[in-house]
Amino acid sequence: MTAKIVVVGSFNTDLTAYAERMPRPGETLSGKKFVTGPGGKGSNQAVAAARLGAEVTFIGRVGNDVFAEIAYNIWRAEGINTDYVIRDADHSTGVAPIWVDDKGENSIIVILGANLNMQKSDVDAAAKLIAEADVLITQLEINYDMVAYALQVARQHGVRTILNPAPAGKLPAEVIALADYITPNETELEELSNHVSSSVEEAARSLLSSPDQTVVVTRGADGAQWVRQQGSLLLPTFKVDVVDTTGAGDAFNGGLAVALAEGKSLDEAIRFANATAALCVTKPGTAPSMPQRADVEALLARSS
Ligand code: RIB
Repeated sequence: MTAKIVVVGSFNTDLTAYAERMPRPGETLSGKKFVTGPGGKGSNQAVAAARLGAEVTFIGRVGNDVFAEIAYNIWRAEGINTDYVIRDADHSTGVAPIWVDDKGENSIIVILGANLNMQKSDVDAAAKLIAEADVLITQLEINYDMVAYALQVARQHGVRTILNPAPAGKLPAEVIALADYITPNETELEELSNHVSSSVEEAARSLLSSPDQTVVVTRGADGAQWVRQQGSLLLPTFKVDVVDTTGAGDAFNGGLAVALAEGKSLDEAIRFANATAALCVTKPGTAPSMPQRADVEALLARSS
């Protein structure tokens, strides 16, 4: 059975500069390379899920400008349904200047433009499709009202929901309560839990309002840890040569969405998501570095 995933989220054109190190404040540094490519957390997750074999619909907004062509090019190439993408004449396509250093670490600024102008009617238009999905996933690069609304609509139809609270922000508890899975990294977890808890497990548990919810904390090179009201487990990731960590969280979320939609157990799904993210960091870029299903399966098989 092919997994059906709906992504309600962002597209940004990534403007990536590669340099030996990050510039200091006030410093001008010579870089090594500059690349323009498709990005945005929502779209990256959609591309990851499509390459893993899912049937993917993307709901979002781009502008009426040349950057939107970059979005349509990758969506077309990956067979992503764009019937519910709106070209917004009043706002520019999101852009993200990114810096990547020789260790593969990144810093990002997002100018979200059209992404922030998403309306309830954009989601309503796709309600039938959402109802037929296995998983709906959303992130925080669209306005928070739309995050809540997308989760609500999915809930009404009994569709499983993943909230990737990235980039870091504060969300009302009632919005977090609408998600079956919440997938912060450690920085996002601190922000969401108001910096009050001393351990990852305690902070993650503070987000849970029901025994049916799960927080999955992505912990970089250490792997990913699930936390429920009862229990917690850290699943290690795979050792790889890191080229560029940008998009690793998106790869993880795309992988998790597909694996859960396919009915894998939580531990299996996290292992699959870890493998997807591990392969992503071995290549430069965000959407272009999302791995193919066969490569994820091969890594899992080699490491079992
Ligand atoms: O997660 C990586 C993404 O964050 C980049 O593609 C950039 O567009 C920002 O949204």
